[in-house]
Amino acid sequence: MTSRNILFSISLVIGILYFTIIGRSGASERRLVTLEELETKNGENGSLIWLSILGKVYDVTEGKEYYGPGQSYNSLTAADTTVPFVSGTFTKEEAKKDPVELSDSDLTGILEWQKFYSESDKYHLVGKLVDPRYYDEHGKEQPTFVTLLERLEKIKISEEEKKAVKEANKKARLEQAAKQEEANKKAKAEEAKQEM
Ligand code: HEM
Repeated sequence: MTSRNILFSISLVIGILYFTIIGRSGASERRLVTLEELETKNGENGSLIWLSILGKVYDVTEGKEYYGPGQSYNSLTAADTTVPFVSGTFTKEEAKKDPVELSDSDLTGILEWQKFYSESDKYHLVGKLVDPRYYDEHGKEQPTFVTLLERLEKIKISEEEKKAVKEANKKARLEQAAKQEEANKKAKAEEAKQEM
């Protein structure tokens, strides 16, 4: 193989990798989903199963046993069901509610669910939902959503801080207990010495 052929093969492999890995995820981030399209994705008649949380649409077809027709969580599909995710009320009316009305603690729950879907190996991101609560038809965040995202960021930071404080306290408690155990051992050893 000539060096030109080798160079060509390397560029081809890099190109294929780029389009399958980076290109695909980039495209899915940019993909816009309308409410009409989302509403058809409930698993009926063999359709795909999609759900949306905070305006991010995920394909959950792989979880048919939970989300398929007749299954417990089918009502969480084919709509943006952000509010039902924390209220546990799986109705169409509930799904229409705006998450801006949720408390910080409910929003923490939502963030955990979104993390679950975004980190899942089974499910994947389809794109952004065009909805007055989330994105406009160009994929730009709606003004109220910008405010909500800022709030979510603050909640995330405060949760991380709380976690860090908890971990530091736990570490301090463990260190204290270890010190105490060491002191007890020493005292016992001293007692044993004096008894001899
Ligand atoms: C706000 C209320 C609730 C919501 C939004 C919710 C949502 C979900 C979702 C989305 C799944 C599927 C997860 C996946 O894709 O792997 C799931 C699974 C499950 N849920 Fe719930 N759930 C709720 C309350 C409950 C309650 C009250 C129970 C039981 C008393 C329960 C029991 C289960 C069980 C047993 C599974 C299957 C877990 C597994 O096998 O991995 N859920 N839930």
